Amino acid sequence: MAMNAKQCACRWVLQHQHKLKQAARSCHLKVKEVLGIDEYRNYEYDNEYTFKYSELTTTLAEPKQLRAKPDVSELKFGQIFTDHMFKVFYHKALGGWQKPEIIPFENISLHPAAKVLHYAVELFEGLKAYRGVDGKIRMFRPDLNMQRMNLSAIGSGLPTFDGSELIKCMNRLIQIDQEWVPHSEASSLYIRPTLIGVDGTLGVAQSESALLFTILCPVGAYFDDKNDSVALFADPSYTRAWPGGCGDRKMGSNYGPTIRVQRKALRKGCQQVLWLYGEDHQVTEVGTMNIFIFYVNERGERILATPPLNGLILPGVVRQSILQMAHEWGEFQIQQRTITMNEVIRLQEENRLLEMFGSGTACVVSPISSIEYLGRILPIPTMEHSKPLYNRIREQLYAIQYGHFEHPWAVPIDSVY
Ligand SMILES: Cc1ncc(COP(=O)(O)O)c(C=O)c1O
Repeated sequence: MAMNAKQCACRWVLQHQHKLKQAARSCHLKVKEVLGIDEYRNYEYDNEYTFKYSELTTTLAEPKQLRAKPDVSELKFGQIFTDHMFKVFYHKALGGWQKPEIIPFENISLHPAAKVLHYAVELFEGLKAYRGVDGKIRMFRPDLNMQRMNLSAIGSGLPTFDGSELIKCMNRLIQIDQEWVPHSEASSLYIRPTLIGVDGTLGVAQSESALLFTILCPVGAYFDDKNDSVALFADPSYTRAWPGGCGDRKMGSNYGPTIRVQRKALRKGCQQVLWLYGEDHQVTEVGTMNIFIFYVNERGERILATPPLNGLILPGVVRQSILQMAHEWGEFQIQQRTITMNEVIRLQEENRLLEMFGSGTACVVSPISSIEYLGRILPIPTMEHSKPLYNRIREQLYAIQYGHFEHPWAVPIDSVY
């Protein structure tokens, strides 16, 4: 039967689609190279270059391998893990991502020269699943964690993947270990996806093999007392992130070096470090949280401000959620801009500083009560208001996370296949 021009073209496309995909992929990589990876933030992931939920295999733990669940009131962060884990290898020599698996929780065996052990070729994410008041388990904005994870992967020379495929695999993992999601509104299940370079070769170079795994741990209330506030230690001689660095990526190499400063803060009787940057002592982050300041300007207007995503700041999921929520409320101005210690001191001295708080997945919102800075203690009046903003934000996010009402940010784990 004779084919018309349209049919001929369709047949040609069908026959050559693999070449077209390859060409598209090459253009894609070229665009990344030309624009510079950092500017190319709307990167779309090609399914051909990802692992797939449809290929997931599951090996369930034997009854004797199942561990007793801890008492919710005794849960400490990151101490106890569930019965299963997710893992998938990437081997460039074998064509990239391999088949993903859910297996009983186990130790990882690594070559002693694995790049992760020598050059910190590693990144991770942190998100949570919550058991709602209706019994449904929901994850909070997992798509944002997946975007950030892929940006961290690009920054570490590790392979990227389709975030929606990992979300589906994590959902399956949580379904299998669902009895580990605490039956309590004060607790949740912490999810730790991690990507490490496992090439067993010395030399600072891209890792041709990688392992992506995800482990889960039930966690209790971050604060024993809901009104717990933190005292900060700010010393401009320490720097967490700098322009042109990778402080805006969730790489393990950003965290190890902060431990000695955190210890110094504890010795000073403070709970967290306030990270400053530059000669003007810019306020950047607090511990492993983003920071917000709520104040009244010279014209008597209330303003919520947080530092901009200028490379020094991790793009926090809770940070973004607070900005979006406050924007919807429309009750005060919102600014993403540089904040310096001089400004904080001036606002405090002029009684225009209302609140300061940190934000992050672990604590949601953490009010700040003082800052030790250059030998003096600056009191911050966050806890002195009858209806503080930090608490309103916290309650609103809790309500979304624990399913008090349906909200697009809280994604039920059985809704995304
Ligand atoms: C350095 C740093 N800043 C901010 C955050 C808060 O990010 P998120 O709101 O996504 O938990 C974290 C935690 O991941 C962090 O490690």
